Amino acid sequence: MSRGRPPGDRDPRRDPRDALRARIEQAASESAREPRGVRPGKRPPLRLFTSTLWEYPSQHYDSQSGTKFQGSKDYVGATPSWVIWQLLQRYTREGDTVIDPMCGSGTTLDVCADLGRTGLGFDIAPSRPDITRADARALPLEDASADFAFIDPPYSTHVDYSDDPGCIGKLDAGEPGRRPGNPTGAAYYEAMEGVIAELHRVLKNRRYMGLYVSDSFRKEKGRPGGNFMPIGFELFSIMRERFRPVDIISVVRHNKKLTRGNWHKAAEDGNYFLRGFNYLFIMKKQDD
Ligand SMILES: C[S@@+](CC[C@H](N)C(=O)[O-])C[C@H]1O[C@@H](n2cnc3c(N)ncnc32)[C@H](O)[C@@H]1O
Repeated sequence: MSRGRPPGDRDPRRDPRDALRARIEQAASESAREPRGVRPGKRPPLRLFTSTLWEYPSQHYDSQSGTKFQGSKDYVGATPSWVIWQLLQRYTREGDTVIDPMCGSGTTLDVCADLGRTGLGFDIAPSRPDITRADARALPLEDASADFAFIDPPYSTHVDYSDDPGCIGKLDAGEPGRRPGNPTGAAYYEAMEGVIAELHRVLKNRRYMGLYVSDSFRKEKGRPGGNFMPIGFELFSIMRERFRPVDIISVVRHNKKLTRGNWHKAAEDGNYFLRGFNYLFIMKKQDD
């Protein structure tokens, strides 16, 4: 290690293991939301969580109607269905219209069906017929028509969702500003601002939304300390301009692959952290 550098902060130009670590971190991020845990049919029953720390030993829950999966268990980047279950139990009633403008594998729609809510799912690259193709920045919905909105957006460029040029997952939240005064990740945050404005437009007044997101980090050549992207707080501050904050939940991320691989050793050696939680921001539209 060169002199004067903090422990673990190696010069990436001289450390041949740096590229390997970058790949490991990337893989760890990508696999961080893969299904794990207790087998279908053996999961603990869901009950309302009462603190702001949420944890459940599976990606999916065993529904009362007998379904064992919500959304697709093979979809990389799917939302844990019990997170959506918790939100719908608290902030919606039977028959309410719930929208998900970035519906992915359709987890929100399946939880809605389970709980007797009307789910409307949209995505730039729909994965199943009950999801409508639409850009989350221009939804085919009337103003003030939804009772609740859930959204789990791309966290920068972690997952390759589709080749659609409108996919926000193509925009790098850690990209340095190209012009003076142009902040890091400007294109990503500008796109997400458009999504949040659209959510505000379609949501009824005095109704709620949930946004589930994680920060991001990647090792970068020539950048000691890596590139940390505080996506959670950045999106929260964008939402604050239109919505009233109701609460902030920390959702524990389980990742079996993280323990199987040598990810923790790499994080220790490289002096960085693996993502251990997701934010769930609960917001209310309060325009009066
Ligand atoms: C994290 S995934 C959503 C996962 C989903 N909640 C589930 O459980 O399967 C993010 C989704 O955002 C979609 N997406 C990206 N850009 C979009 C845009 N501009 N408009 C609508 N959907 C978009 C992607 O295609 C991807 O399906």
